[in-house]
Amino acid sequence: MRLIPLLLLFALHAEPPQYASKAVLKAPANYRDWYFVGSNLGISYSDTATKDPNFKNIYIPRAAADAFKKTGVFPEKTMLVMEVYQPTKDASPAKQGNFEGKFIGIEVAVKDKDAVPEGWAYYNFIGDKGEQKPTAKANPKQACWSCHAEHGAKDNVFVQFYPRLRDKD
Ligand code: HEC
Repeated sequence: MRLIPLLLLFALHAEPPQYASKAVLKAPANYRDWYFVGSNLGISYSDTATKDPNFKNIYIPRAAADAFKKTGVFPEKTMLVMEVYQPTKDASPAKQGNFEGKFIGIEVAVKDKDAVPEGWAYYNFIGDKGEQKPTAKANPKQACWSCHAEHGAKDNVFVQFYPRLRDKD
């Protein structure tokens, strides 16, 4: 009897977060195969305008996206990956516009109350010297959580910027 709920849980979380230790997350491996929810150019948390703003692409496991669309809430253990690219231009034959150039790295949001009491934890895998880190420690609550809780449209997530979660298919 106990097997069925377990199997259901497994089906929902085919991509559970992998931890090195409590609140120390391993970088998710195949996130580019997940459900792509949207991209943006140059959304920034700072008041100063950036000359060449970065591109960001956001991904979520398919099962978590489906559950969110049904219930309006993300299931426990949901991960969202935001990957960051530097913009680049002037590649023939393009005469205008920007495309994604150098890969900068990823930031990850995880809904896991076993990791942090506030429920959502935020991890930055971009090192101080721009290197890719294999693991990252959850940021302090005030560094990331507060802005997400206050301004994210749904359940701490910036759904307002992600058309494939925001709009009806
Ligand atoms: C002042 C507000 C603010 C703070 C502080 C902030 N974020 Fe965000 N975050 C945003 C906005 C706005 C987006 C929407 C997408 C974007 O920025 O490209 C976002 C999106 C994200 C996403 C994509 C999933 C989601 O929840 O929408 C991740 C992952 C993320 N941020 C990680 C972090 C991490 C890690 C920190 C702390 C180091 C942090 N954020 C701090 C405003 C903030």
